[in-house]
Amino acid sequence: MCADRTEWFTKARFGMFIHWGVYALIGRGEWVRSDEEISTEAYEPWVRAFQPKHFDAHVWAKAAREAGMQYVVFTAKHHDGYCLFDSALTEYTSMHYAGRDYVREVLDAFRAEGLRVGLYYSLLDWHHPDYPHYGDRHHPCRNDSGESNENRDFERYLAYMHGQVQELCTNYGRIDILWTDFSYDDLRAEAWHGEELVSMIRRLQPGILLNNRLEVSGEGFGTLLDEKPAVTAGDFVSPEQIIPPDGIRNWCGEAVPWEACVTMNNGWGYTEKDHWFKPADMLVRKLVECVSKGGNLLLNVGPDGEGRFPPESEAILQEIGAWMRHSGESVVGCGYSGLPKPEYGRITAKEDCLYYHVMEAQIGGIPLRGISRETIEEITLLKDGRKMEIEDTWITGNYPDLVFASFGEDPRLPDAIDTVIKVKRKKNKQ
Ligand code: GLC
Repeated sequence: MCADRTEWFTKARFGMFIHWGVYALIGRGEWVRSDEEISTEAYEPWVRAFQPKHFDAHVWAKAAREAGMQYVVFTAKHHDGYCLFDSALTEYTSMHYAGRDYVREVLDAFRAEGLRVGLYYSLLDWHHPDYPHYGDRHHPCRNDSGESNENRDFERYLAYMHGQVQELCTNYGRIDILWTDFSYDDLRAEAWHGEELVSMIRRLQPGILLNNRLEVSGEGFGTLLDEKPAVTAGDFVSPEQIIPPDGIRNWCGEAVPWEACVTMNNGWGYTEKDHWFKPADMLVRKLVECVSKGGNLLLNVGPDGEGRFPPESEAILQEIGAWMRHSGESVVGCGYSGLPKPEYGRITAKEDCLYYHVMEAQIGGIPLRGISRETIEEITLLKDGRKMEIEDTWITGNYPDLVFASFGEDPRLPDAIDTVIKVKRKKNKQ
């Protein structure tokens, strides 16, 4: 692991995942070809029909920036094999079918909003003839004995896959993250010729960050936690649909960068019938949870087949943004505080500041554990910068070792989602 390389990432904390491709038009998720065992031929009409009229990468990028997100990871190719970029190695691309290079448009737009940019690239490929079909655990033709693997040449697939990664690392300027997905069964590191792949990627994009999925999937952590991580270990762990209960540490207890990828509803790719969206207040708290445990949140949006964000996602992003505008300082650039989690919420930390996130109203003052009076320079309510007093009464006097801060007479929290108390500590007195 290289700390310099991951520095921006461990400060960014909040990113947008975008799953978008032909499958969005069908509206039953990005696994639809596998789930419903749809052959390449039967998928073809959708491939042709994927001509998103409302796609405007600037709208997406603006929504991400306004939500307080610092980076994006966009699906250049998902498991269906359809490429949302221009490739000299296949015609199975948006350039060929729709005359557009969506990867370029997305990267340009997000960079213009000041965000870092990452690409998701599927190691699986259900379109390439040399990728195992029959008997593969996931392939849409896994049950079709007519699709035997006899004449399939996996080496040829690897040359194609490496070639495409090379294209992505060469033709699109600086890429901050390459998010490969995913390893399973025998198809792991070595099978992907992972060492060669990684050395090529790092040669072409020296600053790039890689996830751990050349070795694992969301299942498993990979050698990044080992004493001697392999070349294929990547730079961060990618827990999926879970926030690790205790953060993630390596063999000797050191914190390892991680990024929880989480959906807003229950699917990655657009799922027409899934309206089980997580409310914005919950997502703000989950973001804070990630940061308090030393991790990032990569929150997914699955735009529809015409290129629009689901209205629920738009609204959620705006609500998160409203909170981030006044309290984002307690997230971006912050991390684990080293202090135990308080009953009422969480703590994040940055340089000489501690941020106490109060998510549950308290009776009276808020106990700020882990600091002593002498070390405090100032306590403010982050939301509006108002100075907060230390509560000193006969009531708090029973707890002489604790510092209490008071919100005043109103028993309700100044911010119902998460009220952040910022404690600036005196330099050299921490
Ligand atoms: C899984 C799924 C995939 C999704 C990814 C996001 O690996 O295969 O559809 O892109 O998770 O983490």
